Parts: sequence; C-alpha cells; structure tokens
Amino acid sequence: MRLPLRDYFRKKNTDKSTASDQLPRHIAIVMDGNGRWAKQRGLPRTAGHHAGMVALRRTIRYADELGIQVLTVYAFSTENWKRPRLEVDFLMRLPSEFLKTDLAELKEKNVRVTVIGDREGLPHHTRDSVHKAEQETAGNTGMVLNFALNYGSRAELLHAIRNIVEKVSSGSLDSGDIDETTISNHLFTASLPDPDLLIRPSGEYRLSNFLLWQLAYAELWFSDVYWPDFDKVHLLEAIEAYQRRDRRYGGIKL
Ligand code: FPP
Repeated sequence: MRLPLRDYFRKKNTDKSTASDQLPRHIAIVMDGNGRWAKQRGLPRTAGHHAGMVALRRTIRYADELGIQVLTVYAFSTENWKRPRLEVDFLMRLPSEFLKTDLAELKEKNVRVTVIGDREGLPHHTRDSVHKAEQETAGNTGMVLNFALNYGSRAELLHAIRNIVEKVSSGSLDSGDIDETTISNHLFTASLPDPDLLIRPSGEYRLSNFLLWQLAYAELWFSDVYWPDFDKVHLLEAIEAYQRRDRRYGGIKL
C-alpha cells in the first residue's frame, strides 16, 4: 500500500514507523532558480538567494517531520566562483546567517550538520561557522543536513583517486583490492547512503556536477517551480513520484 503522505501531514497521530517504510532515505536537492525568481519580481539576484534560504528552512522542517534520514543541499558549486564578486560574497555569508538563526532549532530537532566540498577554498568566516555547526551537532542522531559547499563532483572524484593512488604507492592498499566500495569510501559522502531521490526545480534537466557517482541509481524528479517557491506540496509530489517508481537497479522483477 502506498504511503498516504498528505494524510501524514494532516493527521497528527499517523504512525511514523509505517509512514517511513517507503520513504527515500536520502534526498538530494539542487536549489536552482533563485536568480530567475528574483528577476521576475524586479529584485536583485541576492534577494532570490535570501528567499532560497527561507525555502531551505521550511524544506528542512518538512523533511525532518517526515523522517527523512539525510538531506543534501547544493548550496555552492566549484563553478559558482565565476559569478560576480558581490553575489559570491553574499552566498558565502548565507551559511553563517542561516546557522546564526537556525542552529538552535536544528540542535533541538537532533539534526546533525555536515559539509561536503573543498572547505580550504572557503572564506574563513564561512568555514568557521559550518565547522562550529558540525562540532556542536556531531553527537546528534536525527536527520543529517548535509551542505554541499564549494562542491564539485569531478573534483571530489579526482581527490578520491589521488588518495587511492597514494595508498597504493605507499603499499597500504593493494591495487587488486580496489572496488566500488573503495571509491565510495574515499568520497566526501563516505559515511552517508547514496541519495535515493534527486530533486531539481526551476525547469533545468541536468546534474551540474552534483554527486555524479552517488546518484548512479537515484530516482530523478524535475519541476518548473523556482526554488524560492518550493514548498511542502512539491516535496510531497516528489516523494509520491518516487514511491510510484519501480527501482530495479538494472535487474528485472520476477
Ligand atoms: C542556484 O540558483 C542557486 C545557488 C547557486 C545558491 C543556492 C543557495 C541557496 C538556495 C541558499 C542556501 C542557504 C544556505 C543556508 C547555504 P541560480 O542563482 O543559479 O538561479 P538562476 O538559475 O535562476 O539564475
């Protein structure tokens, strides 16, 4: 029987353990469309990113309420440095702005904050604020809120391959023992399950260098809605679409 997700939100007493049966364990989101959302309203792009932060806040609340185990959000890619300086500066201040207001709630909800990406390339203030959040939530056992910051999947794979080659050169790893798990274990996401569901709003149909290895068997869900307008109804639509998919992992159903 399919999970009556909408009922789950309506009825306070729905049994969460039943509801979680067919939920994606890990949802990854490309939070796209902030600039176009702002342009439509005659606002600066930064206003779109700010509205994107508000959409993220409510999405975290819904995902947590539903019992999603991991939520990975693409907050800044290795390619986003090409944007105008003012926009980059604004995007780099968003994590600290968000954590200043929301860290207490995340802690109260037992959420663990993690970060994937090249942190060495981040400004000190950004690095420090996410590091503080990671430290202060390290012992939490609830939903993992995973920020992809200065993240690029090809750079991540390159970094993993270099580490593996170093281990082979130093003799601590036998090249014959390298398998898919070896690769997964050398990615930034080593401790996380692969995403089951990728959500990309804003009418774009690409992966944009996001979790290329990890998304191998993910179900993809696209929508025309711009990220700042993304709401509970869209999250439910995406999850319900996911629940209708027949995941065969290359095999066949007998
Ligand atoms: C892509 O939309 C979005 C980004 C590069 C930034 C995403 C960041 C947020 C939603 C805020 C995240 C908040 C925290 C706390 C880190 P775009 O600017 O490319 O939109 P466009 O394609 O319409 O121009």
